[in-house]
Amino acid sequence: MKISVVGCGYVGLVTGGCLAEIGHQVVCTDNDAAKIETLQAGKLPIYEPHLDSIVEKCGRAGCLRFSAQPAEAVREARAIFICVGTPPLDTGDADLSAIDNVARLIATESRTPKLVVEKSTVPVHTGQQLKRALAVYGRHPGVTFQVASNPEFLREGTAVGDFLHPDRIVVGVDDREAEKQLREIYGPILDQKFNCPVHERTCPSAAAPPFVVTTVNSAELIKHASNSFLAIKISYANAIADLCEKLGANVEEVTRAMGMDPRIGPQFLRAGLGFGGFCLPKDIQAFIRLAERAGADFSLLKEAEKLNRGRIDYFLEKTRRALWVIKDKQIGILGLAFKANTDDIRFAPAIEIIRRLLAEGARIRAYDPEAMEKTRQIFPAVQFTENPYEAARDADALLIVTEWEQFRSLDWNRVRELMDRPLLLDGRNLLDPEAIKAAGFEYHSVGRPDTSPPLT
Ligand code: UDX
Repeated sequence: MKISVVGCGYVGLVTGGCLAEIGHQVVCTDNDAAKIETLQAGKLPIYEPHLDSIVEKCGRAGCLRFSAQPAEAVREARAIFICVGTPPLDTGDADLSAIDNVARLIATESRTPKLVVEKSTVPVHTGQQLKRALAVYGRHPGVTFQVASNPEFLREGTAVGDFLHPDRIVVGVDDREAEKQLREIYGPILDQKFNCPVHERTCPSAAAPPFVVTTVNSAELIKHASNSFLAIKISYANAIADLCEKLGANVEEVTRAMGMDPRIGPQFLRAGLGFGGFCLPKDIQAFIRLAERAGADFSLLKEAEKLNRGRIDYFLEKTRRALWVIKDKQIGILGLAFKANTDDIRFAPAIEIIRRLLAEGARIRAYDPEAMEKTRQIFPAVQFTENPYEAARDADALLIVTEWEQFRSLDWNRVRELMDRPLLLDGRNLLDPEAIKAAGFEYHSVGRPDTSPPLT
């Protein structure tokens, strides 16, 4: 099918690349001409495993193009996936102006019937507004629009695998024709019959995902409800971690056993610095606003968000207690991305931590395998190092902020020798407390009994 993807951010690029990979003719477009130029030159503006090879391969095969002409891209397509950003406004509401712009573009440019698919995360009732906008601004009599909601559940770092082997495909539709077309688009994924670029073969054992058909309103709500639930789960684990610290228990032991109950499940119970990234924080805020507007009491969400905001305060307070005075201290930061395997620093705990430490007069050396370029633009005063060891050089404290696997297996004896004071604050519970104590460190982590004298 001829498909246009409007918006070349994370969601748009993964969606466009994967739809081309499973056999569609895809044009990705964006009103950021510089971004399209970069993509046309064969460079990706983001780091996402496997996406570069998909884009390269599909580009060569002629089934994936990047165009700076959104109007033309819209006219050519049978189905249009809207993947533009919906960033938070100061109020916490999602900014839907980009969706509105695309709706007007589709309405005015379309000469043939279109299936318009919302992929961006949007508040419930956006589909209704979209439908209205398409009808109001439509210029060509007889052109019909079907609107569907098809939320993405892509995790950065594993987005390609998530798209091609999803847990479920949710489609919110108003009529059978839209459902039929979406079944056709997702056919190869529903059958799991394609050469998987992640595993470089067909994946015969991959389960056929359920195709969940709902109303448009429900589909929109499913996305916010899912992400907000994940956020609550993380905040719950963090609340348990605080309790463990106070009561002398170990959060890892507690959440591990909790997760063995299939009703709870083991994922998203990792205590630490809380949730960051561009999805969970903004989705929970938007959901809070949505509930407020609907007159529903959802204070549970507000508490989860408040708990999350408190994680950084708590971590910094621990750092302060360990260091006594922050001013003029040399601090090493390991990890800048909001989580491992991405270069994304949006709402990353590291950014807030660095901002506050600099404000208190600390000197900072930082290392991240992927996210240094992006962070450099925000903090000219920070020294970014070539490897994790240089971040530790002369440091009075080293802070683990992102759970990159490579930090687990550093030569900790070498790190200790490089530091002025062997003080390690692990915001992600990445290291084994006994082993790191044996390596000669004062070590503080989250929700686990300290191997070092407790902080007063
Ligand atoms: C999330 C959702 O998982 C995905 O389905 C949605 O479509 C987009 O938002 P992503 O933002 O890539 O994906 O990150 P995710 O892996 O969900 O992690 C979110 C944040 O929670 C990260 O900051 C991570 O470090 C944190 N987290 C996750 C924890 O603190 N503890 C956990 O146990 C799990």
